[in-house]
Amino acid sequence: MGGGSTYTPELVDGFARLRDVLPVTELVLIDPDARRLELVGGLARRILARQGHPGRVSWTADLDAGVDGADAVLLQLRVGGQAARQQDETWPLECGCVGQETTGAGGLAKALRTVPVVLEIAGRVRRRSPGAWIVDFTNPVGIVTRALLGAGHRAVGLCNVAIGFQRKFARLLGVAPGEVALEHVGLNHLTWERSVTVGGRDVLPRLIAEHGDAIAADLRMPRSVVDRLGVVPSYYLRYFYRHDEVVRELRTGPSRAAEVAAMERELLALYADPALDEKPALLAKRGGAFYSEAAVALTASLLRDTGDVQVVNALNNGTLPFLPDDAVIEVPAAVDARGAHPLPVRPLEPLYAGLVASVTAYEHLALEAALKGGRDRVFAALLAHPLIGQLDHADRLTDALLAHNRDHLAWA
Ligand code: G6P
Ligand code: MN
Repeated sequence: MGGGSTYTPELVDGFARLRDVLPVTELVLIDPDARRLELVGGLARRILARQGHPGRVSWTADLDAGVDGADAVLLQLRVGGQAARQQDETWPLECGCVGQETTGAGGLAKALRTVPVVLEIAGRVRRRSPGAWIVDFTNPVGIVTRALLGAGHRAVGLCNVAIGFQRKFARLLGVAPGEVALEHVGLNHLTWERSVTVGGRDVLPRLIAEHGDAIAADLRMPRSVVDRLGVVPSYYLRYFYRHDEVVRELRTGPSRAAEVAAMERELLALYADPALDEKPALLAKRGGAFYSEAAVALTASLLRDTGDVQVVNALNNGTLPFLPDDAVIEVPAAVDARGAHPLPVRPLEPLYAGLVASVTAYEHLALEAALKGGRDRVFAALLAHPLIGQLDHADRLTDALLAHNRDHLAWA
């Protein structure tokens, strides 16, 4: 779903390279945008053909026909496209709050637009292909996965932050990525790496001592943050730890949505070239590096019942005892044909547990607002968000959110 995304060649490249892990026989790209489907579908076929992959590729705007008989349905759609993202990144700034596609008020707007669409799709998937697994990369992944699991769907949420760290640390350590295990904990886009294990030993202190500058530079935070915490926060923690600095930056620079929209135009022009038969280098400038590898690994484990451990978004069910069982957390989990089962987590320090608890409460309220609508529910979610929390801001942001999203919200 969202097969016309400019990201699709990343995914198809993963299917081509990792065919031993996941032997895809048929890939159906589903998207309402016929022009994008032609361009992206054509390139997808050429990528598989170049690598001698026998899988068939087709495309359709017909959701029901497209998911019929599927073993897995990957969700990578964006309701409202980059234009809606541009808004999410802009209006929160007027209150001095971060404008971001998944964090803060912009992330709430995205959740409100997206949850009803995803639930509708999931319902239709279930009617056509009752046993299919839904792998969700559609943001905000934590809230969307919570919506899917709450409605009883067979779903797992996926993000590339953990696999990105795994690859980065492996490179710094000079070992193969498969040798690196992360103690990754938190919520989607609100996580910390608490240990990094190679051959049974925690090498995180050594990584920080020897490569702290490089790690912090990637996070765009001062090195002292990793030295003092002794853990590596994801770059999404920058929106919390350096909130006001980020707001100042966002007020002056171009939005990420505008940058991505420009890249998308360029990418689609490249995809139109019948001589192109691999994913172009420009795609690496998007945030989704390695997401195809994570998606292939996760889908393979669900379909092949492997029980191996991957970092995914799954139901808490007591893993973090200070959160409700129906919260969705992002942690290492054993993945088999019954789904993703979080491994036990060491007690979380208050420095992280406090933020995780308040963002979980926000996610609960955000989902309530997405499912039931209503200004008061939007307001409550914003008031609960640790980056907002003030009455005046929550009121103004509620008005702005509703004003900018009326076309996408049936109830507004
Ligand atoms: C990372 C996140 C994704 C997000 C992406 C944005 O990969 O994990 O959830 O969608 O960044 O990348 P973009 O290139 O669209 O800014
Ligand atoms: Mn993500």
